[in-house]
Amino acid sequence: MSKGQAEARIRELRESINEHNYMYYVLNEPRISDRDFDLLLEELIRLEKEHPEWVTEDSPSQRVGGEVTKSFTTVRHKYPMLSLGNTYSELELREFHERIIKLIPDEAVEYVCELKFDGVAIGLQYLNGKLKRAVTRGDGIQGDDVTANVKTIQSIPLKLRGNKFPEDFEIRGEIILPRAVFEKINEERIDIGESPFANPRNSAAGTLKLQDSSEVARRKLDCFLYALYGESLPFHTHLEALKAASSWGFKISADHVLCKSIDEVLHYIEKWDKEREQLPFDIDGVVVKVNNFRQQEELGFTAKSPRWAIAYKFKAESASTQLNSVTYQVGRTGAITPVANLEPVLLAGTVVKRATLHNQDQIEKLDLHLGDTVFVEKGGEIIPKITGVDLKKRASKAPKIHFIHACPECKSTLLRKEGEAQHYCPNESGCPPQIKGRIEHFTSRKAMNIEGLGTETIDLFVEKGLLKNVADIYDLKKEEILGLERFGEKSAANILDGIEASKKIPFEKVLFAIGIRFVGDTVARKLARHFGSIDALRAADAEKLTEAPEVGQKIAASILEFFSSPVNLKILERLKAHGLQFAMKEEEMPRRVSEKLRGLTIVISGTFTRHSRDEYKKIIEENGGKNGSGVTRKTDYLFAGEDSGPSKLEKAKEYNVKVIDEESFLKLLEA
Ligand code: IVH
Repeated sequence: MSKGQAEARIRELRESINEHNYMYYVLNEPRISDRDFDLLLEELIRLEKEHPEWVTEDSPSQRVGGEVTKSFTTVRHKYPMLSLGNTYSELELREFHERIIKLIPDEAVEYVCELKFDGVAIGLQYLNGKLKRAVTRGDGIQGDDVTANVKTIQSIPLKLRGNKFPEDFEIRGEIILPRAVFEKINEERIDIGESPFANPRNSAAGTLKLQDSSEVARRKLDCFLYALYGESLPFHTHLEALKAASSWGFKISADHVLCKSIDEVLHYIEKWDKEREQLPFDIDGVVVKVNNFRQQEELGFTAKSPRWAIAYKFKAESASTQLNSVTYQVGRTGAITPVANLEPVLLAGTVVKRATLHNQDQIEKLDLHLGDTVFVEKGGEIIPKITGVDLKKRASKAPKIHFIHACPECKSTLLRKEGEAQHYCPNESGCPPQIKGRIEHFTSRKAMNIEGLGTETIDLFVEKGLLKNVADIYDLKKEEILGLERFGEKSAANILDGIEASKKIPFEKVLFAIGIRFVGDTVARKLARHFGSIDALRAADAEKLTEAPEVGQKIAASILEFFSSPVNLKILERLKAHGLQFAMKEEEMPRRVSEKLRGLTIVISGTFTRHSRDEYKKIIEENGGKNGSGVTRKTDYLFAGEDSGPSKLEKAKEYNVKVIDEESFLKLLEA
């Protein structure tokens, strides 16, 4: 392909991918199969790799992420990001309407009703039709720049459709996580011994603040937009603005309506209170906005919120029932979770028998007594929670619930670490649910994938004393298995074959399997690629650890703690002796081109002309250098392109760090 042909094909691919993206993610009307779509994207990525000089910020290839943000820059909002007044009843809503009528008498007022998406507010700035910046709400005055992460959200256009949009404007909306994705993420969190997110909103907020944007891309966030901001926008009504935004390619929920009276508004609220369960995402109410912009202007704002809009919040469904007992569960990591066992009660369409009590503080805050009549609620949360106690109904001699001091399974004295809410059973190697949990994690599909060793078999083997830790798996003898009823020649051979095959499982999965707290499959993969072997990982101190992508203080501390345990080291030694993979194979490691930048830490900032920023990051690594996230005393070069951050330049000056431009950087490589 000639250079000219390649350039034309890149352009064609981008247009086509953008179009299919729009059909799929915004309109929900895919025109081609996922497979065909992937082929187009792969071709684009390949061509852009061959011609990095043509990579643009708004190319759909940029959505796969890859940029790592160690700390987010604070940005001041051009228009303050206000919140809305809340109402919870028909009466309050009618009062809102009365206030409006009083302020603009003799005029008809129309309202637009929209769903109140339960997610994270976001402001998207567009300049000449291209996404320039995405900022979280923060305190309403200033928020965090999360552009790299937001770019991975497929329904947010990087480039607008048509040419009728204002040159410079901001659009605001809500980033949400569909319930199905939320449930998948929680499964993964439980895998790594991390407590699950309480609801999709928390999960969306957590995702938006991840350091590694390629991880954000995997999480499949979505975004509904609902308000435009700019100087002299050409619209007279909110409805017109929504319609225009929709034509530029933004995802505007089709579930908004124009209401000519407050009764129509109430009707809309009633409908959605009933039907919200059927949506694939959470809403927590309805937003009612005066449609006419001139009227909005006349009504103006209070200190906190507009007078022309209000949020009607749905009541979380609640019920009252009796507390029969409190029991305690022990997780794989030893974390103790108190659970309330309730007299079964119907709540939001399901029978509820149990509710989580989270931890000791929660029990004390509720001042729970046995037999109490409690209120249970199911809000955005999947697991119902207890929100209060009906004190009037408490029996005079009802005993107070006291949190346990000893592990319900192994009787060890529980510990609570400073600053943590959870209690732990410290008996890692002797507490049955912990042993079983760790072995189950080790053999699971995403880890060592040993098929014959499922939950029941593991339970049995642990109870019979055949397994006490994961290393024991590799010492299992055929006769031992045959000695148990239930197992014949065939099933025993099956188990042993599976165990043997697991010795070939690559290092990154072994690293996940050994169950370092907070090290999930993604982090394990990154650590494996960054350090290359378990020995290198073990030798790293906190500083070296946090240089790895996606690793902050918390994960680093957990890794150090893991390697400081003689029990863990002994297990690792035995696994090594059995021939498990504890290093990356040559072909699994990232490509190395030269050692020209060896020992140099380089911080990149701004935009460049010859290669994209991500491309340069890769070039640095391929030539033995390290990408720093912020300028410190240890930085060797600040590699500054156009528009590079002023704070980075200042720091470079302060620490005497050499600043180089694109030309000098490329010369460094030629040298
Ligand atoms: S309009 C001046 N419309 O609810 C405020 N907000 O408490 C304009 N929200 O901060 C906001 N769905 O994060 C608006 N359809 C919708 C919304 C919505 C959810 C959120 C938003 C806002 C909060 C208000």
